[in-house]
Amino acid sequence: MILVTGATGVVGRHAVRLLVEQGAKVAAVTRDPQADLPAEAHLVHPSEVTTLPGVEAILLSPRATGAATVDLLAHARETGATRVVVLSSLTVPYPAGHARFRQQFQAVENLAKESGLDWTILRCADFAANTLAWAGQIQATGTVRGAYPDARTSTIDERDIAAVAAIALTQPDHTGQTYLLTGEQSLSQPEKVAALGAALDRTLSFVEATPDEIRRGMLAAGLPDEVPDRLLGSLADYAREAGPTTGTVRRLLGRLPRAYATWAEDHSAAFTRKQTGS
Ligand SMILES: NC(=O)c1ccc[n+]([C@@H]2O[C@H](COP(=O)([O-])OP(=O)(O)OC[C@H]3O[C@@H](n4cnc5c(N)ncnc54)[C@H](OP(=O)(O)O)[C@@H]3O)[C@@H](O)[C@H]2O)c1
Repeated sequence: MILVTGATGVVGRHAVRLLVEQGAKVAAVTRDPQADLPAEAHLVHPSEVTTLPGVEAILLSPRATGAATVDLLAHARETGATRVVVLSSLTVPYPAGHARFRQQFQAVENLAKESGLDWTILRCADFAANTLAWAGQIQATGTVRGAYPDARTSTIDERDIAAVAAIALTQPDHTGQTYLLTGEQSLSQPEKVAALGAALDRTLSFVEATPDEIRRGMLAAGLPDEVPDRLLGSLADYAREAGPTTGTVRRLLGRLPRAYATWAEDHSAAFTRKQTGS
């Protein structure tokens, strides 16, 4: 059985679906007993993960496992699991943003490496789904206000991360590998907004705001400090130097990574204002 932590996350949910489609037995970890996940997956509450028998491999989602990561890995090792795949970040080898965020990822990578399990580390670029944060503004005004327009990253489609995770969880050739997963097109923020506009067949614009203005807006919306810290810190660095672009997804999956424009087309409904009945 494969244990997918963070199973309702943007990567986890695709990983569960792909593994189930491949015929794997999947235990999907979620706090939500009603989670909308494939019926074939066995839903498991985080408090139950260290009581589960028969786990062979684990997809480790650091935000979801948090302080429980050590116990989870120890239990897995003691009960016969052999493999762990970690969803980490490209900021470990390419520092961007506040050090504490990459240190958290580095710490989880180290736990996996010290766990005695066969490990694979997936150091991911920013997820395409992060741009869902623009959906409200785009629906309401067709304008995205943001800081650091020149910040460029090769955003990755979370479905490609899940596809790589699925092979690393089920095939032996990826043991001891650290993969840098990115899309293959480095885009600035206005270029991403333009791709969304093309997908929506609507002219959208990106309007530059100061970092302070964006931070105040996020805090006023009730977001914790961590969110603007994480976002603005990395954007400032990616405006100075673009995030890296690798061919790893293409090499591992034997096809091009999905382009951001494709992600935008596939998620256009999220950016479209719901019509209210008259
Ligand atoms: N976003 C990026 O650009 C990026 C880049 C590189 C790496 N990463 C890392 O990739 C991993 C996967 O990200 P993701 O966006 O798919 O999912 P995520 O935001 O980490 O959340 C996945 C699921 O974990 C559960 N969860 C979240 N916070 C939790 C908490 N404090 N305690 C217990 N459960 C919690 C939630 O599920 P339930 O509510 O169903 O329990 C959530 O749906 C994360 O660790 C993230 O740090 C993200």
